[in-house]
Amino acid sequence: MQVNQDDIVALIEAALDANYSDVRAASNRIAKSISSDDLECAKKIKSILRKKGVPLQSSGYIDSLPVDSKSRAPLLEETQWPVTPLVLNQESQNVFQTFLSDVINVDELISHGLSGRLNFLLSGPPGTGKSLVAGHIAAQLNRPLYTVRLDSVISSLLGDTAKNIRQIFDFIPKRNGVLFLDEVDAVAKLRDDRHELGELKRVVNTLIQGLDSLDDHAVVIAATNHSGLLDPAIWRRFPYKIDFSVPDLEMRKELWKHFLFVDGGEESMILMLAKISDGLSGGDIESLSLAVRRKSVLTKSDVNMASVVEATMNSALGNTATPEGGELSTFKKKKIATILYKSYGVAQVDLAKILSTSRQTISGYLRE
Ligand SMILES: Nc1ncnc2c1ncn2[C@@H]1O[C@H](COP(=O)(O)OP(=O)(O)O)[C@@H](O)[C@H]1O
Ligand SMILES: [Mg+2]
Repeated sequence: MQVNQDDIVALIEAALDANYSDVRAASNRIAKSISSDDLECAKKIKSILRKKGVPLQSSGYIDSLPVDSKSRAPLLEETQWPVTPLVLNQESQNVFQTFLSDVINVDELISHGLSGRLNFLLSGPPGTGKSLVAGHIAAQLNRPLYTVRLDSVISSLLGDTAKNIRQIFDFIPKRNGVLFLDEVDAVAKLRDDRHELGELKRVVNTLIQGLDSLDDHAVVIAATNHSGLLDPAIWRRFPYKIDFSVPDLEMRKELWKHFLFVDGGEESMILMLAKISDGLSGGDIESLSLAVRRKSVLTKSDVNMASVVEATMNSALGNTATPEGGELSTFKKKKIATILYKSYGVAQVDLAKILSTSRQTISGYLRE
């Protein structure tokens, strides 16, 4: 390793000063200088830098986040950049890349009179990757991500709600952050009988004024489970949109491959799981995978394919079943073999692998 001694001194000094941008800079220089001799270690350093946001509690930083005046609860939080990769279909990928490129080149667009609002609306069912997209955008832009849960901003007193919203929009430009308005439809829920329509309108207007007060460089991402509930005036202020649905077959293959097989795995097994998980979200595939991998670690045995298959078949969107730990009963194995064979065309060799049994047993199951 040829680490420059000055970098080590700088790193120690920055760490003790709690100067996190200098810690990052020195660590990056160190990673770069060792990357030719010890690529693994350089990667490790880079990955730590990517994963760890700035610790909020240190340096009194958290005190400066805007808070609800009554409850003193922070109105937004700094969210760490994601570590998992993002799986998108071609169409969404296209919008995602266009958005990033427009943000990165905003000054050029402005100089040609082509700037628009850099506002991105993500809609779709829970667990389809909306928050993940917000995180990836912030990470790619190298900007902090500030997440606002609008339901926590909505105070029992609507006057305070408007004040809270104003505070958020005053704060964001100071930090050059990416503003992520999660559950933005919460505002629409105010349309209940507790409130007068006039009051609701005031809150919506404050939100609109906030969006309009930001300058051309501001990046705002909003997420909602029901885009239909959104006020049209808000909806119109988001020129970039992705409407997520549950992942298609290709995406499900990638998700299983990543979450269950840690980017390895046999093609036939990945395909089989992708087929039987139609209708489940990325979040569901992640939960099923992690549950069965935890079992496999604790029982010191291989991933139990039969129980992943069974749990997957018993899961519905946003409602995953818990994979069984031990060996499945013969009754369950027969059922799985029959369904996989008849409805999904899984070959008998693969059935034998999935159920950890012989091909003779499988053909026996199928004959019954
Ligand atoms: N399209 C996707 N690509 C990769 N991972 C995904 C995807 N969708 C969901 N996941 C996994 O599920 C988790 C939950 O997704 P999240 O972004 O929080 O969903 P949402 O915000 O839409 O409810 C993510 O952290 C990720 O691990
Ligand atoms: Mg979310």
